[in-house]
Amino acid sequence: MNSRIVKLADNTISVEEMASLADWLKEGHQVTKGPITREFEAEFAAYIGTKYSIMVNSGSSANLLMAFSLLEAGYLRNKKVIVPAVSWVTTLSPFIQLAFECFLCDSDPNDLGVDLDHLEQLLKNEQPALLILVHILGHPNQMDAIRRLCASHGCLVIEDACEALGSEYKGIKVGALSLAGSFSFYYGHHISTIEGGAITTSDDTLYSVMLAIRSHGWSRDVPEADRLAWKEEFQIDEFREFYSFYYAGYNLRSTDLNAYLGRLQLGRLPEITRIRARNFELYRQALPEFWSQSSEGGPISSFAFGTYARNRLETANHLVAHGIECRPLVCGSMGRQPFWIKKYGVMHLPVADKVHDFGLYLPNHAKITPEDIAFVAKHFREVAQPI
Ligand SMILES: Cc1ncc(COP(=O)(O)O)c(C=O)c1O
Repeated sequence: MNSRIVKLADNTISVEEMASLADWLKEGHQVTKGPITREFEAEFAAYIGTKYSIMVNSGSSANLLMAFSLLEAGYLRNKKVIVPAVSWVTTLSPFIQLAFECFLCDSDPNDLGVDLDHLEQLLKNEQPALLILVHILGHPNQMDAIRRLCASHGCLVIEDACEALGSEYKGIKVGALSLAGSFSFYYGHHISTIEGGAITTSDDTLYSVMLAIRSHGWSRDVPEADRLAWKEEFQIDEFREFYSFYYAGYNLRSTDLNAYLGRLQLGRLPEITRIRARNFELYRQALPEFWSQSSEGGPISSFAFGTYARNRLETANHLVAHGIECRPLVCGSMGRQPFWIKKYGVMHLPVADKVHDFGLYLPNHAKITPEDIAFVAKHFREVAQPI
């Protein structure tokens, strides 16, 4: 009996990082969002290659903040959005909550981003104001073609890059490929701040609006020029300004505790990305008879190795019996999820349905070794039937 356990995800926060955090906490800082958060935001933006980043308390909060801020900033000519059918529930749910009309787009059979033909059809038929992309399991969408199509239909593009931190498309990092990008720093993602997330953007107006909406709708975090202009517009004095709300905001803030970890984690991100990319290639070489994602991007900061097995349940049970964790390929199709069916009825899309019925993903994280991959591949092919 082999005693090897291959976990789907593992802690990225080291004992040394926790000890450093504990030492810092003992110094007695305020710990709520403050200078460490601002430092992390500047470093994260520099890493992605955008002018700004905004730290929030999860990737889901990042998606919600992008959606509501685009509306409030007046960037959207209507409340129609295209969302990939293969995505994450909180990629889509903010738009449902904000009463958008949501159109699910099928997946490209190679990279599992949006399918270009279906995208074009939706753009033509529905004339939506917005497209949110998801770079599934680290693989960038076909950005050149997507940007061309969306520009010709006046559709804005944003990215949910929660599974793709560190991946690049033609030399540009995901999250810097559109108007704004979201990231998750939850356990099991590329870096972790326990819970956490961020938005990247280079748009000045959107940045100010997002900073306000992150914190109740007040202007305290907003750059001076916008803060003063808003104050002037509503004739607000210094005292009233403490509790003046320019937007009906949320509280989506993170804390300096999380940002402290984020700064340490960011230092290790290039190495984490390198190992994840190597592991993806090793899986691909070890399982040539099985489908694997391929994209125009590179390097791919792989989240996990996604593939198909005709007998998925049997395969998953076999892996678990050998100490190997695995999961369905993300959420499958949103059009087949109970919450969607209850509201709109089931929606069938060919590639998304295939992902829903046969897709699964195998572990990849920075502690996975080439020996682990050989072990997983051996047990996988003992049972799995390719499609
Ligand atoms: C594509 C995508 N978007 C958003 C999220 C949500 O991130 P969080 O768990 O930080 O809320 C996830 C989570 O895994 C995800 O995969």
